[in-house]
Amino acid sequence: MSYYQYFCFIFTLGYMINFIGNKSLLHASWDYRTGMGMAYMSNIPWIFFIQILALASNSEAKVSAVIVFGDSSVDSGNNNYIPTIAKCNFEPYGRDFPGGTPTGRFCNGRLPPDFISEGLGLKPVIPAYLDPALNISEFATGVCFASAATGYDNATADVLKVIPLWKEVEYYKEYQTKLRAYLGDKKANGIISNALYLISIGTNDFLENYYALPDRKSQFTVQQYEDFLIGIAENFVRQIYSLGARKMSLTGLPPMGCLPVQRATNLEDPLKCVEERNKIALEFNGKLKTLVAKLNKNLPGLKMFFADPYYPLLQLITTPSEYGFEVAEEGCCGTGLFEMGILCNRHNPFTCTDANKYVFWDAIHPSQRTNKIISDNLLRELKQLSL
Ligand SMILES: *[C@@H]1O[C@H](CO)[C@@H](O)[C@H](O)[C@H]1NC(C)=O
Ligand SMILES: *[C@@H]1O[C@H](CO)[C@@H](O)[C@H](O)[C@H]1NC(C)=O
Repeated sequence: MSYYQYFCFIFTLGYMINFIGNKSLLHASWDYRTGMGMAYMSNIPWIFFIQILALASNSEAKVSAVIVFGDSSVDSGNNNYIPTIAKCNFEPYGRDFPGGTPTGRFCNGRLPPDFISEGLGLKPVIPAYLDPALNISEFATGVCFASAATGYDNATADVLKVIPLWKEVEYYKEYQTKLRAYLGDKKANGIISNALYLISIGTNDFLENYYALPDRKSQFTVQQYEDFLIGIAENFVRQIYSLGARKMSLTGLPPMGCLPVQRATNLEDPLKCVEERNKIALEFNGKLKTLVAKLNKNLPGLKMFFADPYYPLLQLITTPSEYGFEVAEEGCCGTGLFEMGILCNRHNPFTCTDANKYVFWDAIHPSQRTNKIISDNLLRELKQLSL
C-alpha cells in the first residue's frame, strides 16, 4: 500500500468514528506536495495503531537502489571505458579508496553517491555501468551512468569526447531492459520506482564550456545560457520521470569561483575566490530550485529534493580549521593549483601526504573527507523527507 492508501484508510476510519460517536475523534490532514500525512488522535489506542501503520509504510517506501547521473562529481569510473583524456584511473587517485584502488573516481577515495548509498543501508560503493567486469546482478541495487567532463549541454560533452546526458539516459533505458529480464517486471518496476536518483551536473557547462570557449558565449548571455541549461534539466527530469523515476535529488552548483583552479587563474585578486563565478553559481542554483518546486507540483508522485552544495562547501572553504582541515585554497595533488586528471599522476613530486587535511583533492574535486561531510549533511536532509 502507498502512503496515500494508508491515509485514505485512516480517513475512512475517522469518518466512521465520527458518524457512530458523533464526535470528532480524529483529524487527519494530507499534504499532497510532500506526500506526508498527519493524523491527530484524541485517544491513546488509536495513536498506537497509527504508529504501526506509519512503520509499515516507512519500510515499504525504503530506497531500493541508488541510481546516478552526472559528471565527475559522481562518476565512479565510466570514463575508463571510453576514448577520452578525462580519466583518472591511475595513482595517486584512489589511494584512500578501499584497497587503494584508482577506480576512475576523481578523488583520493569515495564520492557522495557511495556514502549516500551506504548511509541508506545499501552497498558502500556504486559501480560504473560501463565496467565490463560487472553485470546486472551487481547493478540491481545501485549503478552509475555519470561521465566526468560532461554537462547539461551536448556541446560540453563534445569538448573532451565524453558521454552526453542524453546518452546517459539511453544507458539507463538499456539498464531497465536488463533489470526486467533479470528480475521480472514486477520486481524490476519496484526497484525503479523506489530508487533514489542522484543527479549532479552543470559545473562543466560554465567552466569547461561557456567561460573557456567562444561558441556559447557568442550565442548566449550568461543568463540566457543558464535558462538554456534549465530547459535541458527540465526535459531530463521529465524523461526519467516518464521512465518511472520518482525520488530524486538534484544537486546544484558548488561555489565555482573558489575551486583551486579558478583561484589560481584569478588575475585581479590572486588566490582569492572569483566572486563573479560564485554569483553565477548562486543565480543558477536559484533557477534550479524554482524548477524543482515547479516539477514537484506538476508531476504526480514526484519527490524531488534540491541538494545545495554551495553553502556547505563554502563553509568548509572559509572556515576549514573548524572542520579539521588545514588547506582550502589548493588541492592535495601536485601544486594543488591546476593539476587534475593526467597532470595529477604519481610522478608529480608535490602531492601532499595526508589528503584529510585538504578540502580539495585536486584542483577541482573535493577530497574524500569533504565528500563525507557533504554527504552526511545531505543524508540528514533526505531522511527528513522519509524517502
Ligand atoms: C553475473 O556475473 C556473475 C559472476 O561474475 C555470474 O555468476 C552471474 O551468472 C552473472 N549474472 C548474469 C545475470 O549475467
Ligand atoms: C542533444 O543531442 C541529442 C542527440 O543528438 C538530441 O536528441 C538533443 O535534442 C540534443 N539536445 C539539445 C538541447 O540540443
